[in-house]
Amino acid sequence: MRTTFKKEIVDFVSQQVTLPKTDLYPQIGMPPSLDQGDYSLPCFTLAESLHQKPHELAEQWAKRFPLSGRIQKVAAVGPYLNFFINKELYQDEIISAIHNEEKQFGHSSEGTGKTILIEYSSPNIAKPFHVGHLRTTLIGNALKRILQHCGYHCVGINYLGDWGTQFGKLIVAFKKWGEESSLKSDPIQHLNALYVKFHAEAKKDASLEDQARAWFKKCEEDDPEALKLWKRFKDVSLKEFDKIYKRLDVTFEEVSGESAYNKKIPQIVSQIKKLPDSRISEGALIVDLEQWHMPPALILRKDGASLYLSRDIALLLDRYQRYKFHKMLYVVGDTQELHFKQLFEVARLMGAAYVKDCHHITFGQVRFKDRQMSTRQGTAILLEEVLDKSIALIAQIIHEKNPSLKDKKQVAEKVGLGAIIFADFGSRRKKNVIFDWDVILNPDGDTGPYVMYTYARASSILRKAP
Ligand code: ARG
Repeated sequence: MRTTFKKEIVDFVSQQVTLPKTDLYPQIGMPPSLDQGDYSLPCFTLAESLHQKPHELAEQWAKRFPLSGRIQKVAAVGPYLNFFINKELYQDEIISAIHNEEKQFGHSSEGTGKTILIEYSSPNIAKPFHVGHLRTTLIGNALKRILQHCGYHCVGINYLGDWGTQFGKLIVAFKKWGEESSLKSDPIQHLNALYVKFHAEAKKDASLEDQARAWFKKCEEDDPEALKLWKRFKDVSLKEFDKIYKRLDVTFEEVSGESAYNKKIPQIVSQIKKLPDSRISEGALIVDLEQWHMPPALILRKDGASLYLSRDIALLLDRYQRYKFHKMLYVVGDTQELHFKQLFEVARLMGAAYVKDCHHITFGQVRFKDRQMSTRQGTAILLEEVLDKSIALIAQIIHEKNPSLKDKKQVAEKVGLGAIIFADFGSRRKKNVIFDWDVILNPDGDTGPYVMYTYARASSILRKAP
């Protein structure tokens, strides 16, 4: 029924051109701002098929379009045709649909029988779970829920960064400066502090980096002592991460990690060596991607150690084999754009036709108005710290405005977390998000607290109304 607004547009256009209606629906978009209309139809390809100029076609159609009670105004804006709908009617229809359909609202069966893999969160274990992982965690989890609602079978995957030279650094640091008791009582802080100390000390003593490489090599060679430490770091980190996931109500169907793909590298390497674009360069195995205007993909380092990219190739092949997915979505920040381009290109060269169904869902970075972040310098802003701060600030507002409120603590927790989630979703995905507490928590603005407040008010009216 809500699509009846678009249907009027499609009905009209399909009388003018010979195109199936199903091709026309996806062409309808939205103008850049609401004052320019509710729907927008770009006329470029349509005009081409009619041997006309887009802006002329838009003008003609704007005049000819039969206005109805549902579409009230049509305007040509350059090569676009913008439509203004009857908003009251729209609201009525939406609200009664939500009312009637309840949780089924928005549900569809387009995904029946199809599996979508969505990879999100994927923090690195030996590094702090900083606020940089907030967006992937929230966006990925939301995508999963939306796609489930569209009938897809979704597999949410947390692909942990649990392998790599940083583990060598951590082992060296722990052996030199680590404390058992701190690792037990405050594991993330402790690992974080060790990571920072390592980099500070390595500036003075270059041999530390060599020691770290040697320890990581031991990990790759299944040395029991190295693996035992690695596993401890991983276990304590995971326990802490789970607390965060619980608070944010984020779930996964599968938790895997880079370490699991390490053993599959030799197979990949022998396949890659057969590619015409692969070669050995300064001892390292690379795939030349110059034709595709990219720097070469580094597959195997000179010392034989595997790399993030090679593990990702092994992972992708394995995932397709296991799931025969309809789509594979990687929810990862925009700083890894090149990495995913290279990954998809190498996989395509290896014959993986399904890379066309793999997508890198990028997003901008989280910044704070007044703080810089660097994992190595120890100025990373921990996600937990941000969640706690939001809750504390809300608790303070409650204390000032409504000190007699029941369940103060639970309310602060829910509103505080909601504020952060809302602020993230309220920002454009690809833009950087600036976290400014005054904006995010403003009880009168376009914020989570405001929406929750409105909901509470509305519920109270409904309770009191006969
Ligand atoms: N662990 C990585 C990071 O935090 C993200 C992993 C993204 N996923 C992937 N398949 N490469 O930067």
